[in-house]
Amino acid sequence: MSLTSKHLLGMQNAPVEDINLILDTARTFREVLERPVKKVPTLQGITICNLFYENSTRTRLSFELAEKRLSADTINFSKAGSSAAKGESFKDTVRNIEAMKVDMIVVRHESAGVPLFLTKVTSAKVINAGDGIHEHPTQALLDLYSIREKKGKFEGLKVCIVGDIAHSRVALSNIFALKTLGAEVSVCGPLSMMPRHIEKLGVKVLHRIDEAIAENDVINVLRIQLEREAGSSIPSVREYHNYFGVTAERIENNNPDILILHPGPINRGVEISSEVADGPYQIILDQVTNGVAVRMAVLYLLGGK
Ligand code: CP
Repeated sequence: MSLTSKHLLGMQNAPVEDINLILDTARTFREVLERPVKKVPTLQGITICNLFYENSTRTRLSFELAEKRLSADTINFSKAGSSAAKGESFKDTVRNIEAMKVDMIVVRHESAGVPLFLTKVTSAKVINAGDGIHEHPTQALLDLYSIREKKGKFEGLKVCIVGDIAHSRVALSNIFALKTLGAEVSVCGPLSMMPRHIEKLGVKVLHRIDEAIAENDVINVLRIQLEREAGSSIPSVREYHNYFGVTAERIENNNPDILILHPGPINRGVEISSEVADGPYQIILDQVTNGVAVRMAVLYLLGGK
């Protein structure tokens, strides 16, 4: 079994068979992660570079751990401390890394389209670990895995993505993948954080958080990305919390059966209260654990001989 594509650039147009193959393969690796020895020889001899031009905790560590669990050789590049500061271009940096005989590149970059560009300038297999406000496919896949584990199906499942939709690569990848699997997807947030014509993606637009909680089975709460000009879209984070914050009171009043996801990092007291972030409705740290298995699956399916 293999994926239809050599690279993982996004969830847009990803075939349902590919998504299901990744999720099913991840389930096998999830079991490996419960063993005393959490390592398999699957990618022995494969060299992977984690090329991170933007900050990351979960995605970078999760990929690195997934690679180690599969016995790949890994090298890590961070923009800070690299020769990018001396003026070396992105393309030259990548070609130098490729000259070290790297088979796969996992890339995070602040600019949308960089993973696609990489496929044109290297022969390595490329995995998008988040490109600007475009896509974050492995985050969507681990969200799907975590939802499937709790809800068992996607067909007819009502999922709402809440927050700064306009600046969110997580939102876009989730919308594409959830729609492909048959979920009913909605988005909720202030008008100023809603991309124009978002409904053309086949999603319902909600403007009240109480309605979003009441109407849905799952809510994926996005971080307010102050580093991406989201701050200018809202009067203040306090006001955002008052109108759109996911709080225990709102959940108890509207839908105590709701399942809450958050991709992290969390802004406690802004998009989600601490009570909810640490409470019984959420599966935030399960998402992180599942992320290692999902990334193992992607690396295995793309990197295997
Ligand atoms: N969810 C996510 O992408 O987190 P990081 O930015 O820490 O990788």
